[in-house]
Amino acid sequence: MTPDPSQLTAAQSARLRLAFDDDRDADTFLARLDRYGPELLESLQAVYGEAAGELYQRLTDALVLGTHERPQGLKRLDEARLLRPDWLQQEDALGYVAYTDRFAGTLKGIKAHLPYLKELGVSYLHLMPLLLPREGENDGGYAVADFRAVRPDLGSMQDLSDLGRELRGQGISLCLDLVLNHVAQEHEWAKRAQAGEAKYQAYFHMYQGREQPDAYERTLPEVFPDFAPGNFSWNEASGRWVWTTFNTYQWDLNWGNSEVFLEFVEILTYLANRGVEIFRLDAIAFIWKRLGTDSQNQPEVHVLTRALRAALRIVAPAVAFKAEAIVAPSDLISYLGRGAHHGQLSDMAYHNSLMVQLWSSLASRDVRLFEQALLNFPPKPGNTTWGVYVRCHDDIGWAISDHDAAQAGLSGPDHRRFLSDFYAGEYPGSFASGLVFQHNPRTGDRRISGSAASLAGLERAQALGDGAAETLAIQRLLLLHAVTLGFGGVPLLYMGDELAILNDYSFEGDPLQAADNRWVHRPAMDWDRAEKRQDPGTQAGRMYGGLRQLIRARKRLPHLHASVESEVFRSPNPAVLFLARRHPVGTLLGLYNFSEQPQPFPVAALTPHFGRATDAISGRSVPLVGESITLAPYGRLWLIDEKTPG
Ligand code: GLC
Repeated sequence: MTPDPSQLTAAQSARLRLAFDDDRDADTFLARLDRYGPELLESLQAVYGEAAGELYQRLTDALVLGTHERPQGLKRLDEARLLRPDWLQQEDALGYVAYTDRFAGTLKGIKAHLPYLKELGVSYLHLMPLLLPREGENDGGYAVADFRAVRPDLGSMQDLSDLGRELRGQGISLCLDLVLNHVAQEHEWAKRAQAGEAKYQAYFHMYQGREQPDAYERTLPEVFPDFAPGNFSWNEASGRWVWTTFNTYQWDLNWGNSEVFLEFVEILTYLANRGVEIFRLDAIAFIWKRLGTDSQNQPEVHVLTRALRAALRIVAPAVAFKAEAIVAPSDLISYLGRGAHHGQLSDMAYHNSLMVQLWSSLASRDVRLFEQALLNFPPKPGNTTWGVYVRCHDDIGWAISDHDAAQAGLSGPDHRRFLSDFYAGEYPGSFASGLVFQHNPRTGDRRISGSAASLAGLERAQALGDGAAETLAIQRLLLLHAVTLGFGGVPLLYMGDELAILNDYSFEGDPLQAADNRWVHRPAMDWDRAEKRQDPGTQAGRMYGGLRQLIRARKRLPHLHASVESEVFRSPNPAVLFLARRHPVGTLLGLYNFSEQPQPFPVAALTPHFGRATDAISGRSVPLVGESITLAPYGRLWLIDEKTPG
């Protein structure tokens, strides 16, 4: 019989109270259990059926343990976050994404660079995978061999906790990846599965024959068709086929097994107690498999996320989830919680579409597809936020829907081909220097690697010694950042982009990286370049100065609180993106010129919103007189009512 959540939780409460010495601690724990226990149990029942009752008991025991182990400083943070549940939506949130070794050598080394991050205005630091990976190729650390150990060359778990504390003291939240979909084949669970232990074989999807893999393969796409074709790999030791969506050495976990769920609650708690405040749920879309589908975005993914979140809210309510789901907009919204799960899943999700549309409009000098994509984009729950970004460590896949394209008068396949050609530098007149990643002849997909600066034309301009082209490239980059910083959500700056760092081709000489050209846009931080960031006579200085101006302006604009969504208006000029943020404090209109020509914009489109406008970026007033105002090449304006304070 399936237990009734309320009865089960009541019986639990009496038992659990005994596990606390201090009455106040017990009260806090039980109040949270009261709030989130039913949600947790219900979700477990939905996925694991009858096994849920016993699982729930074991889980609550694990959560009590986690609570006992939670350091006092983090418990204070829990309180602070409960008092400010919108902390990730605030207009002053700013993320920075870096590889520990490439940024600072080691975890300890980061401390010396905190003044740099503070100067930039960073409030959130995502350190790229740093838990112990397998040796050799490891997909940039996304093949984890031990979730409770740090890569030894970067430091120790103690160093991670120390850094967490240090960051917290400076008002910076630490974000780490949690790879949920797979582990390295060298992870203990996989090793024991290979040795034939049935318990651990049940942690994975393993098959003796090809029948089931073949049946699944019929509807599965390929993530890495170039260097890891297919979704299953033969494992000699166990004599079985293993599900490996990504690389052969990354074994997909079987989340249908409740033991896997329990393991991850313990891992999450362990890391949260070491100061991780935001978990980036890596490749979350893939964790549930279903025959006859692409085994992405299955409903169980969301039920499981809700259960993980409920468990974390009991032991570490300061913690937030960020979904890494690079999927179609209609699927993406479910990660923030749709319908019965509205606003109860991840607190944040990557806005991949926005990023893709930025590069698309930059190439076409036309914003009509951008507009269409945003008009068709489903609204997000008000308590959630976007991770908005110009570039990240991954390739850019041209996620443009045929439907949006058709509505904008384009052919989806043709436009995607154009973008690949353009950013590979093959299209006549292209300013970009990018590399084709994972050409899939079956689907025609040609994804693109490259640093923001190289894709925006700085590399070519520099090679030609063309100063005017350099200026345009920097202006392009500032335009893209102005859109993300002015969109609402947490802007995620990718290390080095604040200095317009170019592609780094040294990966070609490294046998562990040569096959994966995403390394071209993962260069080491150039601290010499950073030294010149205050000098407007340098490329780095112009980039940094422009970006700092945008960041400073953003932090003063309550209009950018992420509870309010950006709206898109049909722009009277197809080269100018026209966005609005209608916040109760006032309206902010964003105007973004995606072309290298000055562009007129009719005053009549602005006057319905306010009579006298100030550009919040430059602080200058913009007279709304005459027929039109003019936007400079790649110009951007954040117009607010001159009367609005701030
Ligand atoms: C995510 C990461 C990517 C990695 C993949 C597999 O998409 O961003 O770098 O290859 O997951 O873990």
